[in-house]
Amino acid sequence: MKLIVDTDTASDDAVALLLAARDSGTELDAVTTVAGNVPLPLATRNALLTLELAGMGGVPVYEGCDRPMARPLSTAQPVHGDDGMGDLGLADPAGRPQPGHAVDVLLDRARARPGEYTLVSLGPLTNLAAALLRDRDLLGRYRHVYCMIGAPDAVGNISATAEFNAWVDPEAAQIVLSAADPGRVTWIGWDVSRRDAVMTPGDQERLLALDSPLASFAHRINRKVAEWARQVSGLSGYDLPDPVAMAVALRPGLVAEHEKAHVRIALGDEARGQSMVDRRLTGPPPNVTLVRRVHEKGFKELLFGLLAQEARV
Ligand code: RIB
Ligand code: CA
Repeated sequence: MKLIVDTDTASDDAVALLLAARDSGTELDAVTTVAGNVPLPLATRNALLTLELAGMGGVPVYEGCDRPMARPLSTAQPVHGDDGMGDLGLADPAGRPQPGHAVDVLLDRARARPGEYTLVSLGPLTNLAAALLRDRDLLGRYRHVYCMIGAPDAVGNISATAEFNAWVDPEAAQIVLSAADPGRVTWIGWDVSRRDAVMTPGDQERLLALDSPLASFAHRINRKVAEWARQVSGLSGYDLPDPVAMAVALRPGLVAEHEKAHVRIALGDEARGQSMVDRRLTGPPPNVTLVRRVHEKGFKELLFGLLAQEARV
């Protein structure tokens, strides 16, 4: 599978990048960065250092939009840490981003090889939306587009009812939804992470028992998310929204429940970023496939299996 990943690289994005980098059946062709969890320079730094740790320092990283379409940037540094990676004092990456803008990369790669690339987006959809404003048919030029975004059960993380990626840039999410179709675009929401991708204390012990550099990195950089779980979400450990979305792209058979539905993202301040799912028979036709449940055991076996491996030489 030829893969492009669009990411606002913080600690869970980094684990998702490790899965893509370690999966032998996946050719990670490019990484594009976007402002979200952290400001753009940090998202880029974190992507570069994660790829280098996974032995994939040759994967080109391109910087994209440094703010949402129509709002000031609100980061999730209170959740992930000021550096987005648990504030461990990680060394700077050796590499630098490539010249060229991420939006041009998202457009050019799909035009050059129509139907060959899978795109996985792990942050606000600002880059993809900006690309769509230049090429309305872009989504059809990807083999499939998987987005970690939304909360179809209206259980929010950044607000009572909204998921962070949709809340940061709801206009971008709406632009993608207006061009999407369920055969081409799959959304994996925070409901899946909350229910099927929480690293319980037992899972964390198992991860550390792998005694591999990638596994301990994945655990350590999520220490602030573990704190946020204790203090805010009440989950039994740090959850892995981006890794479970990446796992669906790598192994679609992990999907346990899904539905095709029409989704809009609310723009209004009170409900900003909320997923409005319209299942009325008289409603508009579905525009996305929503994953609702993932096989938790299968996801965690994939996670442990890929993180147990040594970095690619
Ligand atoms: O709501 C979870 C999403 O927001 C994840 O992508 C996480 O990295 C943050 O970007
Ligand atoms: Ca993310």
